[in-house]
Amino acid sequence: MSKRKEVGSSARTLGKHILLDKIVGRESGVSYVKGWPMAVIDLTAGDGIPTMESGTASPLIIQKHLDHPKFGPHLSALAVERHPAVADVLREQVTFPVITGDARSPEVVQRIVGAIPPKGCALIYNDPNAISEFALTPDLLTAAPHTTTLSTLGCNPSGLKRLERDVRLGWYAHIETVTRHLPRYHDVALVRLEKDDAQWAYLVSGPQKWRDRYDCDFASAFRHWPKGYEVAWLRLDRKGFDRIADYLFLTAKENTA
Ligand SMILES: C[S@@+](CC[C@H](N)C(=O)[O-])C[C@H]1O[C@@H](n2cnc3c(N)ncnc32)[C@H](O)[C@@H]1O
Repeated sequence: MSKRKEVGSSARTLGKHILLDKIVGRESGVSYVKGWPMAVIDLTAGDGIPTMESGTASPLIIQKHLDHPKFGPHLSALAVERHPAVADVLREQVTFPVITGDARSPEVVQRIVGAIPPKGCALIYNDPNAISEFALTPDLLTAAPHTTTLSTLGCNPSGLKRLERDVRLGWYAHIETVTRHLPRYHDVALVRLEKDDAQWAYLVSGPQKWRDRYDCDFASAFRHWPKGYEVAWLRLDRKGFDRIADYLFLTAKENTA
């Protein structure tokens, strides 16, 4: 299998993939114990070629869990990739279905919702290249009662702050899409890497009772980022959550105005 170099430092991509791996691993174990079938949906899958930085790619991480002899049989997976040529490459890398299309289009949303097992749960991974590609929609978030999400935010290789203010402000709307549809017993964390020129950040939603476990996941994922990271949970620390969002999406001048 060929390996390809991805934009961004190795620590960023490695952290992203460690985080996804940890979350899929825990949720597949829990769904096994609870007897709930679980669907892992990769909304922005890419080509599945392992990156130089992490030695893997999100569809391959999902495939690894599907192949697990104990937990795998409880899992199903689905990938979406909007570029047909990229989707074709991905089909060579994984055994689960790959939809060619935009994950936000009603037809694709309908197919994704149809792939979530009745009385099951879903983990949705949303890793867009830019704000214009953010693929989480209300229909998806409400498709299954126990839906959890992992989104990458603003991972613009040239730096989020270089975007126009109106474009940057659109990230608040995306965060609100997730917070507005949060189940009562879930919380959402905003995590940002410290002193990162490209300002990588993550939005993670899941059961409140797993906050400590997610916090351990963040520690594992970002230990390769020596400058540190900051995290705030919305229901525990609304001010901290808003402060991180403002830090990410506003310029220093806008933030002090
Ligand atoms: C950052 S890359 C994916 C990397 C991959 N998730 C990983 O972690 O290994 C984003 C990919 O998502 C695709 N994409 C972006 N927006 C999309 C959308 N709304 N629907 C489907 N695919 C999308 C892009 O074409 C690109 O291949």
